[in-house]
Amino acid sequence: MSHILLIIGGGIAAYKSLDLIRQLSKAGHEVTPVMTKSAGEFVTPLSVSALAGRKVHEALFDLTAEAEMGHIQLSRVADLLVVAPATADMMARMAQGRASDLASTLLLATDTPVMIAPAMNVRMWEHPATQRNLATLKGDGIMVVGPEEGEMACGEYGPGRMSEPAAILAAIERALRPDQGPLSGRHVLVTSGPTHEPIDPVRYIANRSSGAQGTAIAEALLRLGARVTFVTGPASAAPPMGADVVKVETAAEMLAAVEAALPADAAIFAAAVADWRVETAQARKIKKQAGALPGLSLAENPDILARVAGMAVGRPELVVGFAAETDEVVSHATAKRARKGCDWILANDVSPETGIMGGTENAVTLITGEGAEDWPRMSKSAVADRLAQRLAEALGAGDGTASGGRI
Ligand code: C5P
Repeated sequence: MSHILLIIGGGIAAYKSLDLIRQLSKAGHEVTPVMTKSAGEFVTPLSVSALAGRKVHEALFDLTAEAEMGHIQLSRVADLLVVAPATADMMARMAQGRASDLASTLLLATDTPVMIAPAMNVRMWEHPATQRNLATLKGDGIMVVGPEEGEMACGEYGPGRMSEPAAILAAIERALRPDQGPLSGRHVLVTSGPTHEPIDPVRYIANRSSGAQGTAIAEALLRLGARVTFVTGPASAAPPMGADVVKVETAAEMLAAVEAALPADAAIFAAAVADWRVETAQARKIKKQAGALPGLSLAENPDILARVAGMAVGRPELVVGFAAETDEVVSHATAKRARKGCDWILANDVSPETGIMGGTENAVTLITGEGAEDWPRMSKSAVADRLAQRLAEALGAGDGTASGGRI
């Protein structure tokens, strides 16, 4: 059990902090709540203290609290300080090192690790001043979770929504045990889901990938302590809690996101990238004309896996691809491994009678430099756990010296 000092800032997202307290308590953590003055405009101290099962601290000069426990002590007995929601103003005050109220004083008077979950209007988030403060706070070693992109309370759309309580809880748990798990300190990149290649503003080329296997792999890697960057196309599976999620639409965007996320110790390419895109997507909807079919000319998409596997400098130590085949699975996948230049291929039989595409189970063959290894049919999450375990062994065994060819 850990002791979390939770500072609730004044933003509409403060209502989510009530659920965060509930989830933290349910996970066995002790929560000492602190509210800023403006937090009280959004949630009441009564509901906060009822959920935390403890008194809420609000004022800097609170004589009883000073007698019971100095405000400086308050932040030192905690294992982690969490600011959720962290408003633009709170981030600015933290970056400046101000001690203008109880919350900012606690944050200044401690060397306990601090995590913030920013929440604000998209323009405020994107403002150079906030981005400057964010860089300062990161430079000071402050952990940042979110914000997520989405519809804002103010009706605008973009990054600025506070992360969901479950995602904040996952980040807190990782922060509390940073050195656990064989992949701690390792960065793994995972691509997942389909890509959508626009034809015009309303139509696109896509495929049936649900993103289930990629998501399960990211979750398994997170369980082993890895830092995971999850680059996903528009998938139906919810992205994994606790990963750095980058949402993309097209193969070109996926390639750019992958390149931006490198360096990584390993990269797993589970995305079903569309092979082709329409050479020139139309800016306006193509009109239907009786008897006249639109001529769509296609262009080949970049092969993201082959590009990363072929990198002369900065190639991840282990590059893993997938091969979905309907016949002669092992021979086709073995040829694909050589063609793409990756270290491992996870091959699966996706012929319709297997029910694998879009289903919950998978039957794979792992193809490495040493040969082919059949895994029994199991759930996609069991496949993910086994792959993550193998990956941890391969990275550990290599001690950073393994070359692609040797794994
Ligand atoms: O060539 P094929 O699509 O069968 O190869 C599948 C593997 O290559 C998968 O790991 C997939 O994520 C990756 N891939 C890619 N970029 C593409 C096509 C496939 O990363 N454009």
